[in-house]
Amino acid sequence: MAGAKAPQERGGYTEDVSAGGPEEHGLRYEVDGEIATITLDRPDKRNAQTFATWSALAQIGDDLPERVRIVVVKGEGPSFSAGIDLRMFTPEGVPGQGSFSSAARLGAAAFEQRLRQAQRGFLWLRRPEIVSIAAVQGHAIGAGFQLALACDLRIVADDVKFCMKEPALGLVPDLTGTKPLVELVGLARAIDICLTARTVEAGEALRIGLTEQVVARDDLDRAVHDKIAELLSTNRDAATATKRLLQGARSRTLEEQCAAEGAEQAERLRALFAAQP
Ligand code: ACO
Repeated sequence: MAGAKAPQERGGYTEDVSAGGPEEHGLRYEVDGEIATITLDRPDKRNAQTFATWSALAQIGDDLPERVRIVVVKGEGPSFSAGIDLRMFTPEGVPGQGSFSSAARLGAAAFEQRLRQAQRGFLWLRRPEIVSIAAVQGHAIGAGFQLALACDLRIVADDVKFCMKEPALGLVPDLTGTKPLVELVGLARAIDICLTARTVEAGEALRIGLTEQVVARDDLDRAVHDKIAELLSTNRDAATATKRLLQGARSRTLEEQCAAEGAEQAERLRALFAAQP
């Protein structure tokens, strides 16, 4: 697993990518060989997220070393993330980052551009070249739930509490979470979860496909470690090509998917046997 590394191994985002200082990013980032670990690191504020957090996430995605195959997203302390920083709802907002009342005064185009920048922090976690794993304990609310949904896999502790709180606050979930939620649990369940803003606990999360694995709180790191070992045991390029195939499967017809399998396999065979006479 990732550990403290020499400075040149450490993460690539710089101070000026975010509107706030490090305390507003609220992130730690470490790269250890093929594994990158991003830790939401404001446990005293339950890892509440700001625009600076999302800018920093986007920058990590931009700078991710090519050798990285696995990205772990985790939260320090009792909660994965209590969602957006509630200071956004105050007139003062988050220092240097504004508030919802200032966002409401932006034109639609300017707001959408700002939102796209925030969404960039989540979208790269789906790249075929990596497998992203959210290790989720305690509360994953709003933006926290959506960050977990942005990852390919979710391994959760038995105290997990997912909640899509946005509709209760007069908002919609807009940090890329609606599509993966529908794809994971189906439209009816997604409507139920979002429009009631109710809490989904571990047993239900496993039953409806929100998570692949529930473990005791103390076993979360070990379970993620074991999953990483399994994921790294397969061929890197085959894993990338297979993830690409699986990601495209839903939007293709069976015939198209068969053709895509053939194209990927032809490429694999070329690569595997290129060295042979
Ligand atoms: N933004 C800013 N600060 C927060 C947030 C947040 N989202 N959530 C918790 N905190 C702070 C609290 O204000 C408190 O700070 P303080 O010690 O300075 O008073 C500290 O974190 C601990 O919070 P508690 O409520 O004491 O912790 P507890 O473990 O009892 O409860 C819980 C955790 C359930 C997550 C609760 O804090 C909560 O409901 N937070 C708000 C969740 C929310 O509505 N998020 C917005 C979702 S919508 C979206 O993300 C777009």
